[in-house]
Amino acid sequence: MSIVITGANGKLGSLIMKQLLKKVSADQIIACVRQPDKAEEYLKQGIEVRFCDYDKPESLDQSFAGASKLLFISSSNTDDTIRLRQHAHVIEAAKKAKVEHLLFTSFAFPGKGLISPTHLYLATEHAILTTGIPYTFLRNALYTDFVGVLGLDAAIAGGELSVYPGDWKFNTVTRHDLALGIAAVLTESGHENKTYELTAPHSWTFNDLAVALSDLSCKPVSLRQNPQIQNWIYGFLGKINTSSTSSDLEKLIGGPVTSLKESIKQFIAT
Ligand SMILES: NC(=O)c1ccc[n+]([C@@H]2O[C@H](COP(=O)([O-])OP(=O)(O)OC[C@H]3O[C@@H](n4cnc5c(N)ncnc54)[C@H](OP(=O)(O)O)[C@@H]3O)[C@@H](O)[C@H]2O)c1
Repeated sequence: MSIVITGANGKLGSLIMKQLLKKVSADQIIACVRQPDKAEEYLKQGIEVRFCDYDKPESLDQSFAGASKLLFISSSNTDDTIRLRQHAHVIEAAKKAKVEHLLFTSFAFPGKGLISPTHLYLATEHAILTTGIPYTFLRNALYTDFVGVLGLDAAIAGGELSVYPGDWKFNTVTRHDLALGIAAVLTESGHENKTYELTAPHSWTFNDLAVALSDLSCKPVSLRQNPQIQNWIYGFLGKINTSSTSSDLEKLIGGPVTSLKESIKQFIAT
């Protein structure tokens, strides 16, 4: 069995590699990377490293050769028209290489999203379905990292978390938990032709965030809804489904996802 992983140098990819190494031997894993000079750690661990650039289809044929399972991590390009082409290259190459099982990191509840990335994820899923390759769609929730743009340190300093008004609910998770779940899918049998919504099992609110900030800082932090607030993130959040939840990730992990309080520690200075 060889598990081939694209985007293996990325933040999610490297966490998945770490979890995989706990479950299978290094000679069963192949790391596909765009910058092989940044993958020396993998070589040292006995992992084969292959050059893989979604913009260079010829590189993909060799990258995916012999893959029993191919984990395709979605491109990080910010232009979704370019991403669509890149994703098509990956899917065509997977078909040519006769990959036995294609797993794709999609986005949670994409059918309810109204922005270009959600259309892109759905289009990619459909393209994968056309190949007839057994698939698994790993629909990742928004990373909890988004809290980093909400001004958490300022909220602690001023005792007030100011947010745009609305009935906001969040199903976010950490990359670490996603990596645990995805590594489980990659190393277990029985996940072919399944779609997993890898979200938190219960949504959290901005009030929960204010409480977590108070707990972590040992200072009172209240929540204030402020219609004057200027932050691009609210336009984005309002157009994706951040409220629907699923127990898929906890089932795959075999335990609870990381708590909100624990997840946000790395985004505050205190
Ligand atoms: N769920 C969410 O909240 C969320 C948020 C942001 C992004 N995403 C999506 O999830 C993916 C993984 O997230 P992440 O945090 O690991 O992102 P990341 O750290 O930016 O990693 C993206 C990986 O994709 C690789 N890549 C980009 N363009 C490529 C190309 N043309 N050919 C081959 N590889 C290419 C990058 O290679 P290099 O290492 O060479 O740059 C990198 O390893 C992202 O790519 C994006 O599609 C999800």
